[in-house]
Amino acid sequence: MSVKETVLIIDFDGPYNQLLTREIRNLGVFSELKPHSITMEEVTQINPKAIILSGQSEQLHTKMGREIFNLGIPVLGIDYGMELMIHHFAGKCIRRDDSNHEKKTVSIHHHSSLTDNMNHEEEVLISSHVTIENIPDGFKVNIKTAEDAVAMISDESRKLYGINFHPEAEETKSGTQLLRNFLFEISGCQGDWSAESFIEDEIANIRDVVGDKKVLCGLSGGVDSSITAALIHRAIGEQLTCIFVDHGLLRKNEAAEVMHLLADDFHMNIVQVDASEQFLSKLNGVSDPEKKRKIIGNEFINVFDEEASKLTNISFLAQGTLYSDVIESGMSVGKMVKSHHNVGGLPENMKLELIEPIRLLFKDEVRAVGTALGIPDTIVWRQPFPGPGLGIRVLGEVTKDKLEIVREADAILRDEIRQAELERSIWQYFAILPNIRSVGVGDSGRLYDHTIGIRAVHSVDGMTSDFAKIPWDVLEKISQRIVIEVAQVNRVVYDITSKPPGTIEWE
Ligand code: XMP
Repeated sequence: MSVKETVLIIDFDGPYNQLLTREIRNLGVFSELKPHSITMEEVTQINPKAIILSGQSEQLHTKMGREIFNLGIPVLGIDYGMELMIHHFAGKCIRRDDSNHEKKTVSIHHHSSLTDNMNHEEEVLISSHVTIENIPDGFKVNIKTAEDAVAMISDESRKLYGINFHPEAEETKSGTQLLRNFLFEISGCQGDWSAESFIEDEIANIRDVVGDKKVLCGLSGGVDSSITAALIHRAIGEQLTCIFVDHGLLRKNEAAEVMHLLADDFHMNIVQVDASEQFLSKLNGVSDPEKKRKIIGNEFINVFDEEASKLTNISFLAQGTLYSDVIESGMSVGKMVKSHHNVGGLPENMKLELIEPIRLLFKDEVRAVGTALGIPDTIVWRQPFPGPGLGIRVLGEVTKDKLEIVREADAILRDEIRQAELERSIWQYFAILPNIRSVGVGDSGRLYDHTIGIRAVHSVDGMTSDFAKIPWDVLEKISQRIVIEVAQVNRVVYDITSKPPGTIEWE
């Protein structure tokens, strides 16, 4: 990826570093987070406009070495980054065992370019990891706490700054101002990074890498693969072929919506495979959740492989990998293309290279790119949806009949959530068919029908969640519509379990 100006953030296990990366991007400057194992060669390759060292680990010996301070590039050391700076320039600080982060008021003693437009007194989220005993030669103390502890040092002549509070934290009231000062005043960044500029750069990059070769992309109907495909299509048009495997476990109208947008409106080359019967027959008689997941996963690969092997002269496989996956897998310097090692179990004779155009973007940035590409909100703002789809929302054995019930109930739920304008405030919401029947009463007397479960959660990353407190009147409407409009359902229940202990999905 060719980015004109990059701020390099080197991660020393800082709990707030993803937030810091996004905060800088929000200011219009592209920032990359790299592990502290980064080498000097990799740093030079990135050619950053500015460097931030941030975190709290004690790894004094890093591969990148201390030359990082002698590159002539502005450096902001946060917390351990400040400690590293002090050690390098022969100052002294002592690490404390009982350290933590707390909100404190600090005051500016010596003004510097980093503190421009900040108040004399500021509230900050400060770390107490180190006590600074000796300031290195050439450095000034700029900020102190009320207890006279050092909170910021600087050597303006070399553009080196150290702070032990967190500008990215909400508690640090002027944190954004401080970052602005560092990026624009001190480091001379332009701040012209945006979804549009990303698209422009990435299109040039894809064209450069792909040349006149062909790319294959698997579409799932989700946000990431749709936007990946649309971006690549914008770059190379007909050279892209997509395979959309419809396993029959998608939500109502999902397959049609994706096909309509990407094939009809965007004129993309898509092979749509309706494999629903095949999936259903493999799932026949299987009720164990893990077995169901395995069957669906394996069958997906089989169908995809079979279709892919019919295509010729494909050189690249596109994937919608996100930056959070890249960071979590602890990868070092990222390149857009790397060799493919049997991703998804593609046929042995297909030696493909991997192309991941959104691998440096966070989810919200991917959405912004989608919108800038002209993709409608119905796809850009689609909630997370598991690969096994409705197959794990019909508990126990999956049948066509049961899929139809849960699909209809889910469509009503989504419609009501949209009408109540709760779509963006609830992270994920869906219907489940728990496979129990209960007694009810209808116009024609006794009923013995299915129950529908409603699950709606607030979450950040799906790892933990709280159940959403949907207003009673909205729940009432959802329930009324489901029992009236969906045949064979006479009861609706609402799941009020948080995760942990209840996972988001029921299977
Ligand atoms: P759980 O149920 O583990 O789900 O709390 C957490 C998040 O992950 C989604 N999920 C999946 N996504 N393949 C996926 O792509 C899967 O097999 C799968 N299982 C769960 C789930 O919808 C929730 O957002």
